[in-house]
Amino acid sequence: MRLTYTSDVWYKNAVVYCLDVETFKDGNGDGVGDFRGLTQQIDYLAGLGVTCLWLMPFFPTPNRDDGYDITDFYNIDPRLGTLGDFVEFMRTANDRGLRVIADLVVNHTSDQHPWFVESRSSRDSPMRDWYVWSDTPEPDDPSQIVFPDKENSIWQYDEKSEQYYLHSFYRHQPDLNVGNPEVRDEIARILGFWMELGLSGFRVDAVPFLIENVNPQLANPHEFLADLRAFMTRRKGGSILLGEVNVPYKDLPAYFGEGLGDQLTMCFDFIGMQNAWLSMARSDATPLARALRERPKPPKDCQWAMFLRNHDELTLDKLTEEERQEIFEAFGPRKDMQIYGRGLRRRLPTMLGGDLRRIKMAYSLLFSLPGTPVIFYGEEIGMGENLDEEGRMAVRIPMQWSADGGFTQAEPVREIPEGSFAPDRVNVADQKRDVNSLLRWFQLLIERYRECPELAWGSHTVLETGRPSVLAHRCDADGATVVVTHNLCDTAVDVELTLEGLEGNLLTDLLMDGTLEVSADGSVRVPLDPHGCRWFRASRPEIPPEDASVKAL
Ligand code: NOJ
Repeated sequence: MRLTYTSDVWYKNAVVYCLDVETFKDGNGDGVGDFRGLTQQIDYLAGLGVTCLWLMPFFPTPNRDDGYDITDFYNIDPRLGTLGDFVEFMRTANDRGLRVIADLVVNHTSDQHPWFVESRSSRDSPMRDWYVWSDTPEPDDPSQIVFPDKENSIWQYDEKSEQYYLHSFYRHQPDLNVGNPEVRDEIARILGFWMELGLSGFRVDAVPFLIENVNPQLANPHEFLADLRAFMTRRKGGSILLGEVNVPYKDLPAYFGEGLGDQLTMCFDFIGMQNAWLSMARSDATPLARALRERPKPPKDCQWAMFLRNHDELTLDKLTEEERQEIFEAFGPRKDMQIYGRGLRRRLPTMLGGDLRRIKMAYSLLFSLPGTPVIFYGEEIGMGENLDEEGRMAVRIPMQWSADGGFTQAEPVREIPEGSFAPDRVNVADQKRDVNSLLRWFQLLIERYRECPELAWGSHTVLETGRPSVLAHRCDADGATVVVTHNLCDTAVDVELTLEGLEGNLLTDLLMDGTLEVSADGSVRVPLDPHGCRWFRASRPEIPPEDASVKAL
C-alpha cells in the first residue's frame, strides 16, 4: 500500500505509549518523576520503536485522583517541572520522531480550581453556570456511581450556596457544564495552548460523561465534539482526539461522528479488550472473534485504539456476571486483586502467572489486532503490580530501569514492588542484554507492526480455523495480505486455513524463519506451538516479502 498515507494519517498505525511523568524517571533526586527525567529517557522510547507518547495529566493538582483533578489547565504541576522543562522535553521528543498527546480532562475540575471556587461563592456568581447545579437532583441510579467504594451519589450538597452540584466521579471533582458557550470556548483555548506547545492531540477523558452535560434541548451534545475537532484541524491538520468511550458497539459510531468521522479520531476498543481477556481465560478465541466480527467499521480516517491494560482497573463491566467471575477466577481470584465489583487492579504479566510464552502471545495479539496499539509504561518489560498501594494505584508504580530500581536515588513517590516482579528480576537494563527478553520481543513486534501497515489500514477478516483455541485473521490492503494466527491454549495445534484471492502462494513467517506454501485450492496448514503466534506476509516466490507490501504503489 501507499506508505505516504501513513505519514498524513499517522495515528492509524501509530504505536502509542502511555506514561505518567510522576512515576517514569526522577531527574532532580526528590523521589518524584519529572520532565527532566523523562527527557533523559527519550532515546530509550525511540529505540523501543513507539511513535507517540500519551502523557497522563501533568497539571497542577491537589492529587486526590492522581492528577485527574486539575486546578490549572495552563501550567505544569511544580513537582514535575516547569513549562520550560516541558518545552525542552517536546523539542527532544520531536527530534527523535516522537509525537506527543496528553490527557484532556475537562469533564470536571478539582473543587479547588479557581473556577469552581468562584462558581460556588454565590448563586449570582458570573461563573455559576460553568458547573452543573440543581435544587432538586434526580434520585441516584446506582449504576451511575463510578467509584462505589468512595461515593454513594453523583450529587453533592453545597452548604454555602445551598444547591447540589453534579460530580460524575469523586465529590471533589465537580462536572463542568459544557453546555455553556463560555466553557466550550475555554476548552478550545486549552487545546490551542498545548497544541501551540507542540502536542499532536489529546486522549479525551470520560467522553460519554463529558457530553451528557449538554442539555439536548439546547444543543446536540455531539456537536461539541465536532466543534472541538474542527477547531483542532483548523489549527493543525492531523491532530487527533483519542476518546475514552466505554459504551456498547451499537452506541459507538455516534462518537466517531457516524459516517462523517468528524468527531473523535480514535476510540479505545473496550469491548474487544474485555472479550480478549475472556478468550484468554477460556483458552478459546470465540469471544474475541465474535467481537471483531461485530465491531463497527470506523469511518474513513478514523481508527480503533487497541489495548489490553491501562492505568485504571481492568474493567470487565460490559461482560455478564458469569463471564466476569470466570476472569476473576482465572486472573485475580483474591478479593484484594478485585475492585469496584467490576475489575482487577493487576498488570498483565502477573495475571498470566509470569508465563513468558503466554505473555509474548498476548502482546503479539495486541500488536496484530486491527487498530492502533496502546501500551502502558512498563508493559514492555513485564512489570507487575503492587497490591499494597491503594486501589488503582497498584498498577501505577515506578518504572523499573535497573536491578536497584533506577527510578530515583531518593525515597520513591510510590513503593517499589517486592518478590518475583521486583526490579532485581524485572528491569530495562537486564532485558536490553537478553535477546529472549520481553523487551526484545516488543521491539520485534513493533518493528513488524510498522512494516505491515495492512494490519492497521487493511480490511480484516476473521478466518475459520476449526480449532476454538486459535484466532486467525487476515488483513488486506491494495492487493497485499498479512495473515496472523494465535494459539490461546497450552498445547500445540495445527490449523488448516483457507486463503482465497492471495497475491502469490507463499506465506513468509515474519517473526521467525520459514515459509509455508498455499495449495492451489487456497488451503494451508499452519502448525502452532503451545501459546504460539505466527505472522505471515503473502507473496510470490519471485517477490521478496519485504517488497510485497509496496508492490501496489
Ligand atoms: C478516567 C480516568 O482514566 C480515571 O483514571 C479517572 O479517575 C477518571 N476518568 C476521572 O477523571
